Amino acid sequence: MYYEPGKSAHGLPHDPFKSCVVPRPIGWISTTSRTGIDNLAPFSQFQNVSFDPPMVMFCANQNAGGRRKDTVVNVEDTGQFVWNLATWELREAVNRSSEDVAPEVDEFAHAGLVKAPSRLVRPPRVAASPIQFECSYLQTLRLPGNGALGTVDVVFGRVLAIHIDDAALDERGRIDVLKLRPIARLGYHDYTSVESLFTLRPQGGPTRLAGLEGSPEKVAAALAQARGEP
Ligand SMILES: Cc1cc2nc3c(=O)[nH]c(=O)nc-3n(C[C@H](O)[C@H](O)[C@H](O)COP(=O)(O)O)c2cc1C
Repeated sequence: MYYEPGKSAHGLPHDPFKSCVVPRPIGWISTTSRTGIDNLAPFSQFQNVSFDPPMVMFCANQNAGGRRKDTVVNVEDTGQFVWNLATWELREAVNRSSEDVAPEVDEFAHAGLVKAPSRLVRPPRVAASPIQFECSYLQTLRLPGNGALGTVDVVFGRVLAIHIDDAALDERGRIDVLKLRPIARLGYHDYTSVESLFTLRPQGGPTRLAGLEGSPEKVAAALAQARGEP
């Protein structure tokens, strides 16, 4: 089949677009409003965008009233947010935190979640989540779209601090994703969780391998070695 979004019909009972880019990791973002109310919401349009320094982004469409979502308002007002890893165990709370509630409602309480204080930023962390990033706001890229919901705010942040529960690491010091079972969005109302993995060893020299690992220290060491420095 072939169709051109916005021009020709796909002819299917459900729009297939979101089911094509899968799985999408979940940006479970906590923020605090200018008046001190804590907010929490999932965004499956989420990714890391670089590693040195580590940066992440999430994309928030407008709400049904055509306004910026509370998360975006809070990040732009305060310059801070926290990303929390969404896991299989926390799936119901993730879903509950997506409900469209008034900005005055504390969404941690709404989702039945306990807060853990952050160290460098004001928004709290989800205590039951095994990994969290404390982030500072970099910028918003606002892409105009169609209708009330179409316009999207792409919000970028720099990762200032990373919390990893010791129990999330295996005996080799690697994050044990099969134990954590991070959840990710598919299309429709479907999700997946990480239940298997396979390894592919990339070809390339030390600099490329260090970049693929995402290690600034190993990149620096590999570049120094390539320059013949001791
Ligand atoms: C798993 C999941 C993923 C979601 N991903 C997005 C997304 O990428 N962008 C978006 O605008 N809304 C997304 N939503 C909807 C928001 O979570 C929802 O609009 C929420 O109420 C926003 O909260 P806020 O107004 O407090 O920021 C998602 C919902 C769920 C359940």
